[in-house]
Amino acid sequence: MSNMIKCQDLDYSYHDGEVKTSVLSSLNLNIGKGESIAILGQSGCGKSTLLNLLGGIDKPTQGKVWLDNIDLTTLTEEKITQLRAQHLGFVYQFHHLLKDFSALDNVAMPLLIRGDNKQAALLAASELLSTIGLKDRFDHRPAELSGGERQRVAIARALITQPSCLLADEPTGNLDAKNAADVLSLMIELNQAQNSALVMVTHDEKIAQKMQRILVLENGQLSES
Ligand SMILES: Nc1ncnc2c1ncn2[C@@H]1O[C@H](COP(=O)(O)OP(=O)(O)OP(=O)(O)O)[C@@H](O)[C@H]1O
Ligand SMILES: [Mg+2]
Repeated sequence: MSNMIKCQDLDYSYHDGEVKTSVLSSLNLNIGKGESIAILGQSGCGKSTLLNLLGGIDKPTQGKVWLDNIDLTTLTEEKITQLRAQHLGFVYQFHHLLKDFSALDNVAMPLLIRGDNKQAALLAASELLSTIGLKDRFDHRPAELSGGERQRVAIARALITQPSCLLADEPTGNLDAKNAADVLSLMIELNQAQNSALVMVTHDEKIAQKMQRILVLENGQLSES
């Protein structure tokens, strides 16, 4: 299986003035194309930090990250943004929707950014939002949505481009069992039908069991559970 993501000897520390918080240390990870992985670990162990490094949002203090065999640590911000638009879907732990845009526009945005026709982008966004039960919420801005609705919009935004790699940070944390199962099956469908890599941070053992591999992050390193 060829690699979608590879990390080698990753170190990450937050620096706040004199205070250094070491979070990841000599972490290694290989994720194949079409592979699904759950990452478990206690609150504060560094799961969101790791996803930010995998998605090129932050740069490691030391070590390397490759996305589809391209070394992210040597790229300019502009190139990383391009690469992210081509390959990645990212579901943030705290949704990061654009507050001045409707649910529909938020979901269509990644397609518009890559230059798709506006009509087609809005149609695709409306179909996906309808699939996840938000048919009557197209025009709501994030502040006019419930927490779980925002989370679903954020998931739709990550899935809309059918990315070859989906990074999801507790995507079902605010959802009831039915909605969690629905969005999970959309993510697994992308993973299986498009051979996309899926990396899911979760505290939910049952969801983790649906992934091909379960890894636990502890003391800055990953191990098979
Ligand atoms: N900007 C920052 N400056 C300093 N320390 C930070 C910063 N952001 C996060 N940390 C610390 O880094 C550690 C890892 O944070 P991270 O958000 O990656 O944890 P997590 O595993 O995602 O936790 P949770 O399950 O609660 O989401 C935490 O101890 C946190 O306090
Ligand atoms: Mg987190």
